[in-house]
Amino acid sequence: MSFTADRLLLFGATGDLAQRMLLPSLCALHADKLVPDDLEIVGTARQPFDDAGYRNFAREALEKFMPPERRGSMATFLNRLTYQPLDANDIAGYAALAEKVGQPSQGLAIFLSTAPNLFEPTIAGLTAGGLAGSTTRIGLEKPLGTSLETSREINDAVARAFPEDRTFRIDHYLGKETVQNLLALRFANIMFEPLWNAAHIDHVQITVAETVGLEGRVGFYDGAGALRDMVQNHMLQLLALVAMEPPANFNATAIRDEKVKVLRTLRQVTPDETVTGQYRAGAIGGQPVPGYDEELGKDSDTETFVAIKAHLDNWRWKGVPFYLRTGKRLPERRTEIVVQFRNVPHSIFAGKGAQTVPNQLLISLQPHEDIRLSLMAKVPGLDRDGIRLRSVPLDIAMDDAFAGPTKRIAYERLLLDLIEGDQTLFVRRDEVEAQWEWIDGIRASWAGNGVTPKNYTAGSWGPSAAIALTERGGVTWHE
Ligand code: BG6
Repeated sequence: MSFTADRLLLFGATGDLAQRMLLPSLCALHADKLVPDDLEIVGTARQPFDDAGYRNFAREALEKFMPPERRGSMATFLNRLTYQPLDANDIAGYAALAEKVGQPSQGLAIFLSTAPNLFEPTIAGLTAGGLAGSTTRIGLEKPLGTSLETSREINDAVARAFPEDRTFRIDHYLGKETVQNLLALRFANIMFEPLWNAAHIDHVQITVAETVGLEGRVGFYDGAGALRDMVQNHMLQLLALVAMEPPANFNATAIRDEKVKVLRTLRQVTPDETVTGQYRAGAIGGQPVPGYDEELGKDSDTETFVAIKAHLDNWRWKGVPFYLRTGKRLPERRTEIVVQFRNVPHSIFAGKGAQTVPNQLLISLQPHEDIRLSLMAKVPGLDRDGIRLRSVPLDIAMDDAFAGPTKRIAYERLLLDLIEGDQTLFVRRDEVEAQWEWIDGIRASWAGNGVTPKNYTAGSWGPSAAIALTERGGVTWHE
C-alpha cells in the first residue's frame, strides 16, 4: 500500500547506529525539508528518558556526529522527537508505546536497529500493541540472523505481522551513491553492456578494506566474523549489481528479480578458493595497533579477513572469477570494484615492438568516488625505434563532476525511501536467503576441513595466501 509515513518509530534509539547515522540523517532530511512537515519521530530503548531527556541525548549525538555547517535546523528538528522507554521483551510495555505513537494520519514507519534476539519479541509486541496494521511498514537493520536457518526464523517472525511489501531489509551499501551509480554506468551507457560478459572480461575484483579493528563491538563481531559481517550482505550485493542482467525498469521488482537470479548462480566454493586471516599487532599509518586477540581479551578462531574466488554458473559469466576480499586492520580504507577486460584478440602493434595492456574499469566507492577507465594510447613521438604504447586513465572524480549536489550519507536515502515506501534499495527475502545459502556452504566447508584463520600483521593486505589465491590464476590484486 502506498503512503508516506507521518510517524517514525525508532527502536534502538539510544544505540550507536542511531547516534552516528540515524539521528544525523533525519536531521539533515529535516533541514532540507525532505520529510513531511508533520513527521513525528518516536524513539524507544531501555534507557528511562522522558521526551526532554531524549532530546538532550539526541542533541549531544548531533553535536558529536554532524558537521557544524549542517546543524542549522537542529533546534526545530529536536522538536519532532519524543521518547518512550521500553524493554522490548516485555509485551505489556507495548500498550504505552502505542499510546505514545498515537494515530498517524497517513501511516507509520518502524525502524528496528536492535539485537537480532529482540526481533521476535518486538514483532510480537508490535502486534499485541496494535502497531502492525496495514498502514505500518518496518525497516530491519542487520544482522538478520547468522545462517540461513536463523535468518528464516527471523523472516518468518516478521512475515507473521508484515507482508513482504511492507518489509524493508536494510543493506546500507545500497544507499551509497556510487553503488547506485553502478546501475547508471552499466545501463545508461551503450559502451559497456556489449562487453560485459565472459568473452570480454577476464575477471572482477571487489575489495572492501578497512583500517578499523573491533571498535568495541566485541560481543557482536566475534560471533560473526568477516564472512558474515561483510561478504554475506554488502559484498554480495555489490557482486549482484555488477553481474546481473539488465532489468527492464528501475523499480523494486525488476531490479531485485535480476539480483536474486545472480545470487542463485553462485557456485559453491572449494576450500582452496577461500583464505581467512586474523590480524596480529602491527601498525597502521605509523600508529601501533594491538592484535585481534588482545582487543578481544582471549584467543578466538573468528576471521577478520577473508578472500574468496567466486564463480557464477551462468551463460554470461562462465569461467570469469569474481575475487572478493575484505578485512579489518588493512593498510587503508578502500572500497572498490575492478573490472579487468581481456586483451585485444590480435595486436597490430606487436611487430612494432609495442605491447597492449588490457583495459580496466575501476569503480572506487570509498574513500573517494571515482570511475577510472584505463585505455591504451600512443606515446607521442616519431617512432623511429618502434611504436610505444602506454595505458592512460580516463578519470571521472565524482566530487569534481558533481560539485553542486549535496553529498548524502547512505542512511539519508534509505530512511527517506522507508518513509515514502520505495523498496528498490532494500533487500528482498529471497535475496537474503540466496546469500545465506552460499555463505553457509563456505562455513560448512571450513568446518569440514578444519580451516582456521592464518595470522596477518595489522597494516598488511592480509595473509600471503590471499596473494597466492589470485596469482594461481595469473591475477594480481589491485593495489
Ligand atoms: C557494517 C559492518 O555493516 O559495515 C562493519 O558491520 C563495517 O563491521 C561497516 O565496518 C562498513 O561500512 P562502511 O559504510 O564504513 O564501508
